[in-house]
Amino acid sequence: MFIDLRSDTVTRPTAGMRAAMTAAEVGDDVFDEDPTVNRLQEQLAALLGKEAALYVSSGTMSNQICVKAHTQPGDELLCDASCHIYNYEQGGAAVLSGVTCRTVEGDYGILDVSQLEDKIRPDNEHLVRTRLVCLENTHNRGGGKVYPLEKIQAISAWARANGLALHLDGARLWNAIVATGIPACEWARPFDTVSVCFSKGLGAPIGSALAGPRDFVARARRVRKLFGGGMRQAGVVAAGALYALENHVERLTEDHRNAQVLARAVADTPGLRLVPPKVETNLVWFWIDPELGTAKTVAGALKEHGVRVHPAGPQTLRACTHLDVSAAQAERAAEIIRQTVSHLAPVKA
Ligand SMILES: Cc1ncc(COP(=O)(O)O)c(C=O)c1O
Repeated sequence: MFIDLRSDTVTRPTAGMRAAMTAAEVGDDVFDEDPTVNRLQEQLAALLGKEAALYVSSGTMSNQICVKAHTQPGDELLCDASCHIYNYEQGGAAVLSGVTCRTVEGDYGILDVSQLEDKIRPDNEHLVRTRLVCLENTHNRGGGKVYPLEKIQAISAWARANGLALHLDGARLWNAIVATGIPACEWARPFDTVSVCFSKGLGAPIGSALAGPRDFVARARRVRKLFGGGMRQAGVVAAGALYALENHVERLTEDHRNAQVLARAVADTPGLRLVPPKVETNLVWFWIDPELGTAKTVAGALKEHGVRVHPAGPQTLRACTHLDVSAAQAERAAEIIRQTVSHLAPVKA
């Protein structure tokens, strides 16, 4: 049995979640008649302080629906260079919406409004139209960093003053909520639209949702159908998401505590370096000295000792705590990291 730290998406539904899914009342959601999906959407919209919400199959679909519903072909969006929307969605903004991405180098994914202020294209027939700004909180490639709320508020005020829409990829917004104590609606207020995932830290098997103004969500619903994302008796899976929302948010503090245990092991082990140096939530990103091998070889060595981590770059590994990693397993994984890496012989040049 591996201690699987590759991602917070590897969790299995708990017995309580499966029971809720089995008992779910369902209907045809394309007819808008699934009571469980409707309850999830209403509950989420209320939690985020938005007029409406829409359940969709994945975080990628949620983000890409929002990009399309905010833009026209020939528009441009601004985002951090390491964000998910730009790096890990197959160029969906270009493929699905005819939108270019203009990237800005963030500080572990965090942008300051001063970096954006000169990025709006003038009204000129040679140029794309700057239309949308996308932020990510917590930031995956930024090492699970929480976006400082005041930075978001400053970007939001600037975006509104300049007629730009602001979208949040909040796949792990739940982790930011628990790490800071700032409620969901405070985090969501500066944004026009927010995407959240139930299938990451919250441990549901399937599903994400977007939230925003009622007319936007009506447009998003049309785009969901265009993308082939209309689901029928989706209440079966939405019940897992509802269960997760009601039962698995507060417990994310355990994942954050367990991530600190892993972070200490990484910080103590010669040849490993935390990037960023401070772990704030459930993601532990670290760099490996090439003298010890590559991300792949070190991941292979850890796997032989029962710990799975994700090689996220040539010298970069990601370890992620989640619902299916207990405190005892985090301690054990930390010890395995210490022992395994300290026994790796330097690679001969
Ligand atoms: C920050 C972020 N946004 C969006 C997604 C996409 O979610 P999905 O895998 O459900 O498409 C991920 C997936 O890991 C993510 O980390």
